Amino acid sequence: MDMKNYVSASVLSADMLNLGEEIAKMEKSGIDMLHFDVMDGVFVPNITYGLPVLEQVRKAADIILDVHLMITDPIRYVRRFAQCGADIISFHAESQSNITDTVREIKSAGAKAALAVKPATPIESIYEYLPCLDMVLVMTVEPGFGGQGFIPDTVEKIKKARAEINRLGLDTDIQVDGGINDETAKIAKSVGANVLVSGSWLFKADDMREAAEKLRKAEE
Ligand code: DX5
Ligand code: ZN
Repeated sequence: MDMKNYVSASVLSADMLNLGEEIAKMEKSGIDMLHFDVMDGVFVPNITYGLPVLEQVRKAADIILDVHLMITDPIRYVRRFAQCGADIISFHAESQSNITDTVREIKSAGAKAALAVKPATPIESIYEYLPCLDMVLVMTVEPGFGGQGFIPDTVEKIKKARAEINRLGLDTDIQVDGGINDETAKIAKSVGANVLVSGSWLFKADDMREAAEKLRKAEE
């Protein structure tokens, strides 16, 4: 199946004091989605930003808002994230919330639902949920921090997820997040990922538009 490719820029690497300008820069660079990482300091050993910031980002951004919840009990908050403007909400299979109920809650709030897995979680453990998901997020680093290196062992998981999605006749997107640059993008895309999150690499580029285009067109 020929999937559309998307580039999602991680706000975690943006200059927080100039967020409005950073959003304008992402949009001008042809970025498809804005990736908004929410960390609660319990599910992961870091704390970022949440609902009020998302609400402001929504006002400034005209592109898809892709919210990645790294929080302990996502079902308690998904409706409010949707109300604050999230178009896609990813939550973790390793969180405490019931997966089926959380997916239902996200969809009934009008957003797309995605299930995320940490590097050590077997991909087979989420196969049963594939038919109700819009996207699977295969973490390619341990969630918690930007700027880490891509974990090669995750490649096999992406490959397996794409094979199972195809076997079921679905068109579920596969997102990869963590350590994505022009080289790792080629690897991830060659095994079936079609939504690439990039933070540090995109924001460090001299020309964000050129870098985003490299990710979108990456091919082995
Ligand atoms: C890590 C976050 C990522 C992070 C990616 O827990 O989920 O979205 O911002 O950043 P880079 O591309 O720098 O690895
Ligand atoms: Zn993320």
